[in-house]
Amino acid sequence: MGQSKLVILGTGGTIAGRADSQSQAVGYKAGQITVQSLLDAVPDLEQQALGLVQTQQLAQVDSKDMDWPVWRALLRACTQALEDADTRAVVITHGTDTLEETAWLLHSLLPATKPIVLTCAMRPATALLADGPQNLRDAVTVAASGGRSGVWVVAGGEVHAAAQVQKVHPYRLQAMRSMEGGPQALVEEGRVRWLVPDAPVTPVAPVARMAISAPALSDLLALDELPWVEVVFSSALARACGVDALVAAGVRGIVVAGTGNATIHESMEAALLRARDKGVWIWRGTRCAEGLPVASGLGTDPAEADLVQLPVAKARIAMMLALAAQPRD
Ligand code: SIN
Repeated sequence: MGQSKLVILGTGGTIAGRADSQSQAVGYKAGQITVQSLLDAVPDLEQQALGLVQTQQLAQVDSKDMDWPVWRALLRACTQALEDADTRAVVITHGTDTLEETAWLLHSLLPATKPIVLTCAMRPATALLADGPQNLRDAVTVAASGGRSGVWVVAGGEVHAAAQVQKVHPYRLQAMRSMEGGPQALVEEGRVRWLVPDAPVTPVAPVARMAISAPALSDLLALDELPWVEVVFSSALARACGVDALVAAGVRGIVVAGTGNATIHESMEAALLRARDKGVWIWRGTRCAEGLPVASGLGTDPAEADLVQLPVAKARIAMMLALAAQPRD
């Protein structure tokens, strides 16, 4: 048959949300409507899919509650689809709230051999002008005919790279953005217009793509949970005691959302240095909405080895995966 099938995996989110009335776009319940019903709302979906569509309801969660069992199910389903010679691509329906984290997870762990396209909505499926059907149609277009392998997020007519995409607004339809990078492509009338050359979008160390082997992935999937990593914010009046409490409770790693160019309040910094002496991993990112920390000189200063070139929510996932790959003493 040869790559004729599109696999569509449903995980819940607002795209599958139901409200009491059509005019309600907040206060609804996410993850209520089946992925098959979402497809039924897109009249020419089969044409856009260029072949057979196979759906699987993997979960029905509000993505604020995303957990390791759902991520494991997603990783397994994607791996199966990537290995299946009859499958052309995968589309995943997902909530917007942690979409950037799931996209980063899949980007980090799966080989970029076929398109894996996540999509979402800001309005529930029952809304007067629901954005889900158009986003789903666009995602299917990118998956079936977009022509590029790797993990993409499609929303609001834009295609974003997993390494860059962030949710930037709690309500508006254009809630997903790639900040300075901008979208990688636009979807217009069922066609994809790429804006950038076909090159991998990967940040620099210490969070480069893991390119994990199949046995290492299966070891990871056998874990009951990922190592515990928290994000702490440095700010005016920051204190040491929050960090000390995390260390006492057994945290394995901390990503600091630092001020400006990843700087840290001196009170908190003292606690982080104590934590590092006890073996807790510490990475520094920035809490700025745009941009990434900039290393001085050529970036070879060992004191800057903990600077992280990712938004902190993604950096946290990267640290969990890196810790999971480490033998524990
Ligand atoms: C969710 O993330 O599941 C709820 C919010 C949304 O999808 O916009």
